[in-house]
Amino acid sequence: MSETPPAHPSTGSAPSPGGPPLPLEAQGIRRSFILGDGSELEVLQGVDLAVGTGEAVSIVGASGTGKSTLLHLLGALDRPTSGELILGGRTVTGRSGRELARLRNQFVGFVFQFHHLLREFTALENVMMPALIGGAPRAKAEADARELLEAVGLSPRLGHKPWQLSGGEQQRVAVARALANEPVVLLADEPSGNLDARTSEALHDLLFRIREERELSLVLVTHNRELAARADRTLLLAEGVLEPAQISREEPWSAKTADPQTP
Ligand SMILES: Nc1ncnc2c1ncn2[C@@H]1O[C@H](COP(=O)(O)OP(=O)(O)OP(=O)(O)O)[C@@H](O)[C@H]1O
Ligand SMILES: [Mg+2]
Repeated sequence: MSETPPAHPSTGSAPSPGGPPLPLEAQGIRRSFILGDGSELEVLQGVDLAVGTGEAVSIVGASGTGKSTLLHLLGALDRPTSGELILGGRTVTGRSGRELARLRNQFVGFVFQFHHLLREFTALENVMMPALIGGAPRAKAEADARELLEAVGLSPRLGHKPWQLSGGEQQRVAVARALANEPVVLLADEPSGNLDARTSEALHDLLFRIREERELSLVLVTHNRELAARADRTLLLAEGVLEPAQISREEPWSAKTADPQTP
């Protein structure tokens, strides 16, 4: 009999009793929206997810199934209708906006599909921003931001404003900014959605290199099969819940069917 505790039945990594808490856990997350006519749209209907330290999980699913909604909830950018989010062993549910912001700063980095860089600020200033907001001294924020921009290959572009950068460069600045507060989990929503194939691949290499270097956990929402396949496991969001997915090149996303060969 294995000594390793069993993984979550469908969508979790192995728990670590006595060890450090998992970077991210979601239990029974539901999210519905009340529409203009008073009706309720139930998007997430009980999502369970556990992500281990340094683990990369990709989340796939058809457009409109709730992937971005879920990622926002996992990053504590939105509150679930019900269910629990636990970041670094700390329950997020029920906290004030200020506490939520603090937990978010401490544990989570977010890369959006559209970079959301501040237009009036340079690449360096954009990457310094999270540390400055968190109260870090300016000299430290700047030194760290320079180092991060160097890590993403942008040392020659420190003084460029977002509109003076290519799409791939902007996305690399966004990755550097997401890492500024040394998060334990990096959440990325279609990080390469607007990039050509070669630039996408370079960005994916960067994400996985940083994961290795920093033991960062990655949760990647993507329609890109190559990126989805690079993760340690892939989950399909369909009908409001997550289930293990199998990736094939031609077919639409599908849930994993039981493999009789697998013990
Ligand atoms: N604030 C909101 N009010 C009402 N409905 C919403 C709201 N936000 C999202 N939705 C609905 O929830 C569903 C899921 O949206 P979401 O953006 O999470 O989808 P997605 O899986 O990320 O899709 P895509 O792959 O196209 O990005 C959609 O049907 C959307 O219309
Ligand atoms: Mg989306």
